[in-house]
Order: sequence, then C-alpha cells, then structure tokens
Amino acid sequence: MLKFDFKTYAKNFYLTEEYNYLYAKKDAYIKMLKENSMTGWMRPIEREVVEDIKETANQIKKDFDCLVVIGIGGSFLGSYAFHSLFKQYFNDHSFEVIYAGTTLSSKYLDELLSYLRNKNFCINVISKSGTTMETTITYKVLKDLLKRKYSKEEIQRRIIITTDKEKGALHDEAKEEGYKTFEIPNDIGGRYSFMTPAHLLPLALNYDLEEIVDGYYDGKRLVDVAFEYAVTRRLLFSRRKYVENYCVYEENMLPFTEWLKQLFGETEGKNGVGIYPTSSLHTRDLHSLGQFVQEGNKILFETFIKVANSDNYIDYKGKDLQEINNIVLDSVARAHFKGGVPCLEIEMSECNIENITALIYFFMLSAAFSGFLFGANPFDQPGVEVYKQEVRESLGK
Ligand code: PA5
Repeated sequence: MLKFDFKTYAKNFYLTEEYNYLYAKKDAYIKMLKENSMTGWMRPIEREVVEDIKETANQIKKDFDCLVVIGIGGSFLGSYAFHSLFKQYFNDHSFEVIYAGTTLSSKYLDELLSYLRNKNFCINVISKSGTTMETTITYKVLKDLLKRKYSKEEIQRRIIITTDKEKGALHDEAKEEGYKTFEIPNDIGGRYSFMTPAHLLPLALNYDLEEIVDGYYDGKRLVDVAFEYAVTRRLLFSRRKYVENYCVYEENMLPFTEWLKQLFGETEGKNGVGIYPTSSLHTRDLHSLGQFVQEGNKILFETFIKVANSDNYIDYKGKDLQEINNIVLDSVARAHFKGGVPCLEIEMSECNIENITALIYFFMLSAAFSGFLFGANPFDQPGVEVYKQEVRESLGK
C-alpha cells in the first residue's frame, strides 16, 4: 500500500486558490500526455519480449557466474536502483550483477579487469544511442579481455546488446557479429525506460519478472496523485523553493534517489527553470546537512520516502527499531517545516516489489506532468547532448 501526504507540512507555502486553479487543469494535462509520441512506457510491454528476457536470463544463470552491465544514465539507473533495494547488505547470495560503464576511472576499470580475469562472466551493453562515450570505452576494454580468452563463437555467447531497433554503432556491430540483441523502443527515452529490456534483463536474473510487470502497471491508478505531486512541486518552485531534497531512511534506497535525480533533473531542467533534485540519507546527513536545512537559505523543500514496516525486527528497549526510525522521520519533517522548509511525504507499507514498481510508474507520470507544468518537453535532454558533443569534439571523433 502507498500513502501520499503533500499537504500537512506544505500547504501553508502557497494559496489554496492557486492549487485549485492548477489542479483543475488535470484532464487537459492527461490528454497532452496521451497525445505525446514519447509515451511508449505507458503501453503494456509485449508478451514475447518478456518471454525472451526470461529465457535469456535463465540461460545466463545456467552458463555464467556473473553479468556485467555496461550502461550509464537511463541505461542503468533503473535496474541498479531496484537491485540495490532488494539485495542483502551482507552475505548477498543473489546472482552477481556488476554495474560498470559509469566512470572513466582507470583504477576502477583496472581493478574490474583483475576481478573478471578468472571469472566466468558475460556482458550486457546497454545504450539507446549506441554512441555514449563511457559505455563505449568500458565495452571496448571488457571486450578486449574476452578476446584474449575466447574464440569468436564463444564471445558471441557472452555479449548481449540492448540498443535502438534500427540504428547506432552498437546496433550495427550486433548485426555484423551475430550478437543477441534486445531493443529499446523508439518512443521510450532513457530515463523512462524501466519497463524495457534495458532494465528487465539484469533484473530477471534475481527477481520475478511477472511481479515487476504487474506492479509497474498497477501504478497507473496513481495518475491523480501524480498530478497532485507535480502541482505541489510547481507551486513550491513559484515560492522560490528551487531544490527538492529526497530524504530516505534506508541506505539501500540512495540509488533510488539517483534514479529520481535523473528523472526529474533531465525532465524539468530546461529554459533556465526547473527544480534541482538532490538527496539525503537520514539520519546520517542530519549530522552534516541538517543545520543548513533547518536554518540556512530557504531554497529547499523535502520529499520524505517512508517505509512503515520492515521484515527485520530489532528491539530497542521494547520498541521496534523501524518504528523509532519513523518517529525520527516524522519529528524531522515537523522540525524542518517549523524552520520554513515544506515537507512532502510518500509512505510505503513495506519496501516490496509491488510498492516500488508502482512508485516508479507514479514518479514517471509525475515527472512528465512536471515537465509540462514548467513549459518544457518532458522527454528530451538537449543539455546532455551538448556535453556529449563537446566530448566527441575534444576526443576528435
Ligand atoms: O536520459 C537520457 O537519455 C540520458 O541520460 C541517457 O540515458 C544517457 O546519456 C545514456 O544514453 P545511451 O542510452 O544512449 O547510452
């Protein structure tokens, strides 16, 4: 179960009339969304694709000990965030998935190569454009390792490419070399691609795909509250609340906030406006950033992601530690609100697949509405392209 409270600690920061005025436009924005050509993430995923992913994942588990996912931004954050939430902190026994391709650190890549040298691994390269520099470099380095160890035929079994259906360097290479491929549909952008093979293949190694698919589409019921969240954020922005701090109380949820940062940052941050998304891990960051939030520049509002119940019971003087964690959360929200910081709250009954996948859909819907409310195209990222182009020129390609 999911609960949303965008009013208790925020409504004093804007006028009810302003809220009602914007909220009354909900149907017009829903229509705008439905008519947009980049909303493939709202339509049901094809059955054959799901079956193909399941079969491929089963084969990987049978033949190899580890999958290296190479991708960045929207091509890795969804599955990385999800897997981080559900694997164990210690003694994790899930099928090993390594996320590479997000850094140009020689130290990282060199150590990864040493680690993989004696491992029976395969690779899933994920890039919609097929030209992203970090992905290309990491892929080349790992493919060279495979080449030193295996024949062409064996390498064919060990490389899976997820990319555009028709074009791009990776698409062409897969065709030429006969690699197994999965497609990222044309009408789904990177940060909206959770329900595509880009994320579902790595996740199928450890999780029930049917549960993920069902939970995700169940998020459709949250359209009204997704619009409510978008409207509230837009009104807070108009009151100079330019930064949204996602506050989580569980360390394994930080990667989920990284996914949120890309989703909202790339969707709204255009034309000189938009809310800058950031995140805090509580209670850790209350002892570092808490001072600024309470008494510093009032540019912030916060969105707390609360987990009501945990499967892990720790007793502290007769009280469940999860309950204590949540008492702290509520107290912090009240304190920050008193300090002039609006606080919104999203509560999951438990952190389970059903709730997380519905939340993923909820946030994507809300980001799309937010893009429209800021007068931006929610589905492009021209600013990211500018940096990519600069790099291409500097590297002489
Ligand atoms: O949202 C986006 O489109 C970008 O952030 C991309 O996800 C990221 O740059 C990776 O691009 P690609 O999948 O083309 O390698």
